[in-house]
Amino acid sequence: MTQGQFISHCTADALAGAAAQLQAGRLVAFPTETVYGLGADATSSDAVARIYQVKGRPADHPLIVHLADAQDIGQWSEDIPDYAIDLARSFWPGPMTLILKRSEMAKDFITGGQETVGLRVPDHTLALAFLNEFKKIGGKGVAAPSANRFGHVSPTTSQAVVEELSEYLDPEDLILDGGPSQVGVESTIIDCTTDAPRILRPGAITVEMIEAVTGVKVVNRDDVIRVSGSLEHHYAPSAQVVLDGYPRPGDGLIALSTTPTPEGVVRLASPVNNDDFARQLYGALREADAQGIDQVVVIQPEGEGIAIAIRDRLKRASA
Ligand code: TXA
Ligand code: MG
Repeated sequence: MTQGQFISHCTADALAGAAAQLQAGRLVAFPTETVYGLGADATSSDAVARIYQVKGRPADHPLIVHLADAQDIGQWSEDIPDYAIDLARSFWPGPMTLILKRSEMAKDFITGGQETVGLRVPDHTLALAFLNEFKKIGGKGVAAPSANRFGHVSPTTSQAVVEELSEYLDPEDLILDGGPSQVGVESTIIDCTTDAPRILRPGAITVEMIEAVTGVKVVNRDDVIRVSGSLEHHYAPSAQVVLDGYPRPGDGLIALSTTPTPEGVVRLASPVNNDDFARQLYGALREADAQGIDQVVVIQPEGEGIAIAIRDRLKRASA
């Protein structure tokens, strides 16, 4: 049975209504430039508890708090290092999450009991309008993980959110449609609690970009892939993901457009560059499942930049 009200035309009135529902303890799935998030009032333990229930996620995993404005980080965090201010100024709104020492506002049910909190200002018109409506009525921030069941592929369209979560949502919960996510992989997570920034999850904001604006060397630079890749099986479709193999007839194939499609292989995506690869990847993995394909071969993009984030997610999807 389908639950959760789907709003395809997000007028100002609709967004104000969604913000009011959020304040009343409902969940609101909303678009961001990275992936869709499942939002709850970040100051309400009851509302946040429902996120865990709907996602089927272990309760000790911390949530990112989404803010309307970079100025709001002072409410949620303390002892913010100068390089983090530089990052916020340069890349927010944008696909970057800063991990900072938490303030009183960030309770254990947000941080998973840790002394740090993850904060992000997303770069999506509709998300920012929604966050601003919530702020207008006294909202402090919106806790939102990716709007998928735990361990699954993150949704990059509202339709994917419906497929993932509608049977777990209540009729009063909302799903806002804002078109396909333009980045397509989750935000870069940067730990800003020590002398130098440390990447916990690679994304569209790269080591080079971070070093360029902060003038501070990113630590553990060579560990970027290892750190994230050491996490468990994640971002996974039902189909088996095989990296850099040769597809057999009936297999799915995701590769840059320069790679030809062998006879009998189902081409799931032919991105023209690495940004396009990131944008199309999760939709293509979902399409494999929709078509009942058992095995998907992905030819990984080489090089730096967002290719590092793509390989990180693929490594886990194939684990
Ligand atoms: O792009 C994104 O970041 C998306 C959109 C919706 O903003 N959100 C997202 O949330 O990917 P989620 O919950 O699926 O992944 C967030 C990751 C989790 O692995 C969580 O453990 C980590 O961020 N995280 C959150 N707060 C943290 C903290 N205080 N310390 C360390 N890791 C943290
Ligand atoms: Mg997630």
